[in-house]
Amino acid sequence: MTDHMPDDLSAIDRDLRAYTDELRPRHGVVRNIQGEWVLLRHDLVVQAAQDHDRFSNAVSSHLQVPNGIDAAEHTAYREALDDFLSPAALAPFVKAFRQVASDLVASLPRNVPVDAVSEFGVRFAVRAQSAWLSWPTELEDRLVDWVAQNHAATRSGDRSRMRQVAQAFDDLVRSVMLPRRGVESKHDLNDVTARLMRTEVNGRPLSDAEIVSILRNWTGGDLGSIAQCIGVLLHCLATRPFLQDHLRNGVPAAEFDAIIDEILRVDDPFISNRRVTTCPVTIGGVDLPQGARVKLNWTSANRDEAVFGDPDAMEPDRNAEHNLVYGIGKHVCPGRHLATLEMRIALQELLAATLSVALGPQHLAQRAVSPVGGWAKLAIVLT
Ligand code: HEM
Repeated sequence: MTDHMPDDLSAIDRDLRAYTDELRPRHGVVRNIQGEWVLLRHDLVVQAAQDHDRFSNAVSSHLQVPNGIDAAEHTAYREALDDFLSPAALAPFVKAFRQVASDLVASLPRNVPVDAVSEFGVRFAVRAQSAWLSWPTELEDRLVDWVAQNHAATRSGDRSRMRQVAQAFDDLVRSVMLPRRGVESKHDLNDVTARLMRTEVNGRPLSDAEIVSILRNWTGGDLGSIAQCIGVLLHCLATRPFLQDHLRNGVPAAEFDAIIDEILRVDDPFISNRRVTTCPVTIGGVDLPQGARVKLNWTSANRDEAVFGDPDAMEPDRNAEHNLVYGIGKHVCPGRHLATLEMRIALQELLAATLSVALGPQHLAQRAVSPVGGWAKLAIVLT
C-alpha cells in the first residue's frame, strides 16, 4: 500500500478504469489525496459493504434518506419505500416509458452525429422519471440543466457551489410538492409523488425534509446515472454490430436485462459510494483508524480479474452473481428494476427504429471524469 496515492478523483483525462486496473493488482486499498481510503478489490468492497456495523453510511451532515442512515432506522425507511420500486409497482408505467422512448427516437436526426449522452440518455432519463413521478413536462429543461450543474459542482469539490446546487434542487422539488398539498389539488392524488407524501415510517408521516431528500435520491442522482449508463450501453452496441443485431431481432426481457448488467459491469459509470469506520478496522492488510473515510469503488471491483478473469470478456451468465453495479448489502440499490426497465425500453425502441447504430467521429467522443464514469460525450450515427 502506498500512502497518498491519487485515486479516481485525480485521474482527469484518463480512462478511470485503466487507472484502477493498473493499481488493483498491487494495491487492494489506496489512500487518495483527499485522505480517503479507496477499496479497489472485489472481496474488500463486498466485505465493507456487508459490514454495516463497522462501515457506517452516516458520512454526511446532510439528511440523506435512506442512504445516509444506518441500522434499524435505515431498515424502516427501506421497508416503507421499496414498494414504490418493485416490478409490480412499475408495470403500469411500461407504456409511458415506451412512448417517451419512441417519441425521442423519432425526433433524433438520421445519418448525422447525435450525442448519445446529452441528446438521448439525459433527455430519456428526465422524461421517463418525470412520467413515473407525474412531474410537469415544463420541468424538463430545469432538470437537464440540474444534472449538468450537479456533476460540475461535485467535480469542482467547491462546497458552497455544491450547497447552491442542492438548494436549487430542493426548490424544484418543493415546487412539485406544493400543488399536491391540500384538498383543492388538481393533481391525481394517487400519483407516485402524492403517495410518497402520504407515506408513513414507524407510524408517523414523513417530514417535508425527508420527502425532499427521498425525491432527490430518486431523481437527482439517478437521472445522471441512467444517462451515463445509456452512453456506455450505446458505445458497446455501436462497437459490436453482432450484439446489436442479436438484440434488434428480439430477445426475451430477462436475457436483454442480463446483457445490460454485464455491459455495465465492464464499464460501470457509477463509480463509488462512501462509508466511515465506526472503530479501528483492518481491511486488505491495511489498518484504518476509527472515523476513516472510505470509498467502495464499484467500478474497479467489477473488473477484478481475481473474480472475472479477463474483465472485458462479456459473459452475462457467468458473471451475474458477482456483478456489483447496483451494490450489495443493506444499501443495495432499490432502483435497480426501474433503471433496468427504463434502459431496456430505451434500447429496444432505438433498435426497433433503426437499421444500425454506429460510432460517430472520434473527436466527438470523450470519457467522463470523476465523480462519474463512462462517457461525457459520445457521438453515434443512426441509420
Ligand atoms: C443505472 C442506474 C443506477 C445505478 C448504477 C445505481 C447504483 C446504486 C448503487 C451502487 C447503490 C449502493 C449505494 C451504497 O451502497 O452506498 C445505490 C443505492 C441507491 N439507489 Fe441506485 N442506482 C441506479 C438507479 C437508481 C434509481 C433509478 C433509483 C430510484 C428511483 C435509485 C435509488 C437508489 C437509492 C435510494 C439508494 C440508496 C439505498 C440505501 O442506502 O438503502 N437508484 N444505487
